[in-house]
Amino acid sequence: MNQIIVIGSASTDFVVKTEKRPKKGETLIGQDFQTTFGGKGANQAVAAVRLGAKVKMIGAVGKDFYGDEIIENLSKEKIDVTNVERVPHIGTGSAHITLSEGDNSIIVIPGANNAINKKKIKPLLTTLNKEDFVILQQEIPSETVEIIIDYCFEHGIQTVLNPAPARQIAKKTIDKVTYLTPNEHEFELLFPNHSLESGLAMYPNKLLVTLGSKGVVYHNGQEQLIISGYQVNPTDTTGAGDTFNGAFVVGLMNQLSLKESIRFGNLAASLSIQKFGAQGGMPTLEELKGSDHYEKEWDFK
Ligand code: RIB
Ligand code: NA
Repeated sequence: MNQIIVIGSASTDFVVKTEKRPKKGETLIGQDFQTTFGGKGANQAVAAVRLGAKVKMIGAVGKDFYGDEIIENLSKEKIDVTNVERVPHIGTGSAHITLSEGDNSIIVIPGANNAINKKKIKPLLTTLNKEDFVILQQEIPSETVEIIIDYCFEHGIQTVLNPAPARQIAKKTIDKVTYLTPNEHEFELLFPNHSLESGLAMYPNKLLVTLGSKGVVYHNGQEQLIISGYQVNPTDTTGAGDTFNGAFVVGLMNQLSLKESIRFGNLAASLSIQKFGAQGGMPTLEELKGSDHYEKEWDFK
């Protein structure tokens, strides 16, 4: 059975809304505080499952209140959590998010997400199947990500690496992933000696650079294509990239072309940013179908 396997972070988001950001040494009165579910791994798993995919998450949370809540949330979403481990003596990961002036800034404390190490991941790799699609991000140790990509490459399992948050990745690892989905900032860190044009041309049909509301740009082997995003008035852009990645893979798994999978992902992302919270606005398949921009040709058989 085809499954999406997300191997990555699950965290609690502590979200503060403030008109202005405090300067160094300054204290301000803000407008609102809420905790929501987050972590790039969990977010991408939720984005995919809501669109009808079978999804399993591999990750770790602490033996604390936040860990309980995360497992309950993922289970409610019908994500297989058999391999979301409870680790002792280390807190569940958290993200400290400031929403201000129409944008977010985030500090991530990995906590238990760092426990997804080499030793833990190795025995789980043999449970992956050729038909599975593996999605990865960078809120777990880089060594773990590399081991998974090596394994998947050797076994012909497709992978998407969303290289967020930004960090260096060895060329041999980039060469082995099926799709790499950085934003512009992550692209610049990964390919410091390349322009966007030359970087994209180097990895046709593989390197997809997300440009926020402008959409996604890639090279199809002949030319550079930009797949425009859908313009909306955003409420909270947190998790837009996660929604794109999860939805994009759902498109691919349902045999949509690369281009249509990108459009499918763009539409899901545009809907997600209209509600508060990373997972708050992620659309269900029904909601996506109800959008004016939904394309009949996307209907899965
Ligand atoms: O991509 C958005 C996510 O990044 C948030 O949910 C937060 O957990 C941060 O890690
Ligand atoms: Na949202």
